[in-house]
Amino acid sequence: MSLILGLETSCDETAAAIVRDGWEVLGQRVSSQIDLHRRYGGVIPEMASRSHLEVLFPLLEEVLAESRVTLRDIDAIAVTVTPGLVGCLLVGLSAAKGLSLATGLPLVPVNHVHGHVHGALMPWMAERGARGEDVEPPWPLASLVVSGGHTSLYASEGPTAHRLLARTRDDAAGEAYDKVAAILGLPYPGGPALDRLARTGNPKAHRFPRSRPDPSSMDFSFSGLKTAVLYAARGPNAPRTNLRRPRAATGETAEERAKRTALLPGVRAEDLAASFQAAVVDVLVARLVEAAGKIGARGLVICGGVAANSELRTRAQAAADQRGLPLFVPPIALATDNAVMIAGIGDRLFSAGLTAGLEQDAVPRMD
Ligand code: KG4
Ligand code: ZN
Repeated sequence: MSLILGLETSCDETAAAIVRDGWEVLGQRVSSQIDLHRRYGGVIPEMASRSHLEVLFPLLEEVLAESRVTLRDIDAIAVTVTPGLVGCLLVGLSAAKGLSLATGLPLVPVNHVHGHVHGALMPWMAERGARGEDVEPPWPLASLVVSGGHTSLYASEGPTAHRLLARTRDDAAGEAYDKVAAILGLPYPGGPALDRLARTGNPKAHRFPRSRPDPSSMDFSFSGLKTAVLYAARGPNAPRTNLRRPRAATGETAEERAKRTALLPGVRAEDLAASFQAAVVDVLVARLVEAAGKIGARGLVICGGVAANSELRTRAQAAADQRGLPLFVPPIALATDNAVMIAGIGDRLFSAGLTAGLEQDAVPRMD
């Protein structure tokens, strides 16, 4: 039995969790900074780091209290070290190093993206674990990580062995959701709002591209799709500055905002949303299934913030059912960033002896 403390501060969520044996959650907290960044239309890195610093230790105390354990009961401290905003990563890593130094507990460096994959497996592991059954998933799995920062496919060959098969050449899927939502005048973060709006629209109203930048690889590209939505919304002469995030709280009036986000006559926001979503989900599911075929996968995984998307969940489930494969998805609350997944994979890394010393650095990019 091992008890792992997980810390996550890679972007705009501060999170801590305590997990036993890689699947049993004793306590967890996520503090989102969405309200802090909303008026800027995106994450401001310096503000994010400062907020992590303020929130992390009070959050940790709450999680220890909820879990009814003290640091003396913990076996190791797992912390996200890559990828993410470097100032943000450093807050969590420095806190973990300080705790490690003070308590003598080993430090376990975690790749956030691999954490998302583990997070998708945890409900299944917990169900089996609670019945006293073997919790080892049926490797290999084809894993799709879709978030605001990543759109990648992995061959997951073991708890800590995730081999990259494909990635996006430009925007991440979540980033495309957020930018298209901004075109439609929806509030930040756009993904969930666009998901809701799409339910009332016609996915066939616009035929948007399902691009494949290089036929010899499974890589993704979403920037052409984003531009196609912009032109369908405002016409072919729409300035591409529409795709940048809105300027910081400029005191824009409701009238100015309505003018800036006005659509061409006869074009409906819900149809744009539904047609955009259909294009994204078509590509994601097709590529996931293709990857599964290539590696002889025994299961499919979707994870990351966009795995909260209702259409993606439905379509991925249908694809899995059709092939008789299990689909692993995190519960919606654990699709976006959290520390449960960090503590969970931290457990597997710790049992594989993958610990680090105080020289461990934060690495903003994975490659
Ligand atoms: O994993 P995450 O919390 O942070 C990163 O590591 O990037 O993912 C956040 C992303 C945002 O782009 C957000 O708009 C998107 O996930 N997202 C969604 C939905 N919920 C969150 N995108 C589409 N549909 C949703 N329901
Ligand atoms: Zn994430």
